[in-house]
Parts: sequence; C-alpha cells; structure tokens
Amino acid sequence: MTSDNKKAQIVSILNQKGGVGKTTTTVNLSHAVGLKEFKVLVIDMDPQCNASMILGKLSPFEQPKTIVDLFTSESNISDCIVPTKYKNVDMVSSHMDLFAVKTQITGTTEGVVGLRKKIDKATLSKYDFIIIDCQPDIGGALVTNALVISDKYIVPVGAEDVFGLRGIKQLETAVKSVRESINEKIKMLGVLITMADYRSNATSVMIETINTHFKEGEVFETVIKRNASINTAFMQNKSVISHDGRTPGAVDYSKLADEFLAKIGQ
Ligand SMILES: Nc1ncnc2c1ncn2[C@@H]1O[C@H](COP(=O)(O)OP(=O)(O)OP(=O)(O)O)[C@@H](O)[C@H]1O
Ligand SMILES: [Mg+2]
Repeated sequence: MTSDNKKAQIVSILNQKGGVGKTTTTVNLSHAVGLKEFKVLVIDMDPQCNASMILGKLSPFEQPKTIVDLFTSESNISDCIVPTKYKNVDMVSSHMDLFAVKTQITGTTEGVVGLRKKIDKATLSKYDFIIIDCQPDIGGALVTNALVISDKYIVPVGAEDVFGLRGIKQLETAVKSVRESINEKIKMLGVLITMADYRSNATSVMIETINTHFKEGEVFETVIKRNASINTAFMQNKSVISHDGRTPGAVDYSKLADEFLAKIGQ
C-alpha cells in the first residue's frame, strides 16, 4: 500500500464475539454513507460471505473475482472490485474458499500484509471510505490483515450481551500488538451499542457498564435498537434502508452515518 495522495479512510468493523451486528453495521452504515454522496468500498473479509450476499448483485460464487483472487493470484484490489445494489457502494466480495486461504496464509507474510500489498493508489484515491467486515476471530490471519491496513475500527457490542466486554479486552490486546508492531496509526473510532431494548434490564446494565469502561467520546451516541425490520432485511439479503427507510432500524443507521461522518472528520 502506498500512502501517496491517500484519501480513503479505512475502517474495520470488529469484535471477537459472534452475532453482535458487525455485518449488519457494515452493510447498513455503508449504504447510509453512500446515500450521503460519499464513495464507499466494502471489503468482506469473512468467509461466511453474509455482507457479500446482502450487497452483491450476484452471489459470491458468481462474482468474476473475489477476495480469494487477491490472496491467490497477481490480482490487485482494483481487479476484484464489483458494484453493489446500492448507490456509491462497491465491494470486494468474499467467497467460501477464504476458509482454506486463511489456513494457507496463517503464519506466513501474507497472513499479515497480504491485503496491504494489494491495495493500489487508484483504489485509495477513488473512495472516501473502505469499510471491512471482519469475522469474529481476533488474532487470526484475516482480522490481522484488516487491522494492518486500518486507520480506525468500530466495535459493535450487543446491548444484552453480558459477556460482551470480555471480547473487547481480547480485542484491545490484539489491536495494541498490531499498533506496536506494524500500524501505529490505528485508533478506535467508537464502540457501537447494538440490539438495544430499553425495556430490558440487561440493556440498561450493559449501557452503564460500557459507559464506565470507556472514556467520553469513545462510545457512539447513536444506539442501534433491536428492531425486527433489521433481521427481516438481513434474511432477504437487503439493507434495512432499502427494505423500508421509515423503520426504526433504518432511522438508527442513518443517524449513525451522520455521527460516523462527524467523528471521522467529514
Ligand atoms: N439491531 C438489530 N435488531 C434486530 N436484529 C439484529 C440487529 N442487528 C443484527 N441483528 C440480527 O442479528 C443477527 C446477527 O447479526 P450480524 O450477522 O450482523 O452479526 P455479526 O457480528 O456479523 O455475526 P458474525 O460474528 O457471525 O459475523 C442477524 O440475523 C441480524 O439480522
Ligand atoms: Mg458477520
């Protein structure tokens, strides 16, 4: 990766815990930011391919090139970019074969800087944001590749996930190690509380715990409420905004896009 005239800010969506809304946030934040006329590239670094299925015009198996080609051929990132269903949002699709690629690159240089070598100037200057959906495997080769190129990271935390903070400790250690060895610029943009249900005691306890653990400004003021429309959209391979822009889920993610842009300095 070259830093000459770099424009795109690279943001990983990260948590060791599964099912906390990483992919939901990747997809819906990207769509909402794209609607505000910023150019977004999503890189799906999770072999589960959920973000690729929601965003893609084609299934991951039909895409001409995917993240797998990036690691297994001479292809640069710009060769693997495809348009998505949503305005101003492009992506590098994932593929199930990324499971095997991960095993191959673990312990090699590619397991750390494979992605960094493939990010070209043209891509960095074309997009305002590159948003990376990570799998819940902190310390693994794919998440490490994402952290090595990231300027910022966002940590979605489930509001009723009482053990959620344990995963964050592990994450903080992994990020510290990347920061000290290879990417000194990486910083947390914010913790994002997801799936909040204000009627439940667990949500109030979790919000209080998060606000105690993190300093002011480290937690997004926008809270994503638990909302069935988010899950319905997910099941139908759509963003919640395209499913129905008036639902609470769509409104929350649009608000998050505003706060994201303000925090990141746009
Ligand atoms: N705010 C919300 N309200 C209701 N359902 C939600 C909300 N956010 C996410 N979900 C649902 O929770 C499930 C898990 O979300 P998602 O796949 O985004 O989590 P993840 O952190 O990416 O999981 P994984 O670690 O497996 O990649 C999905 O079915 C999604 O539709
Ligand atoms: Mg996911």
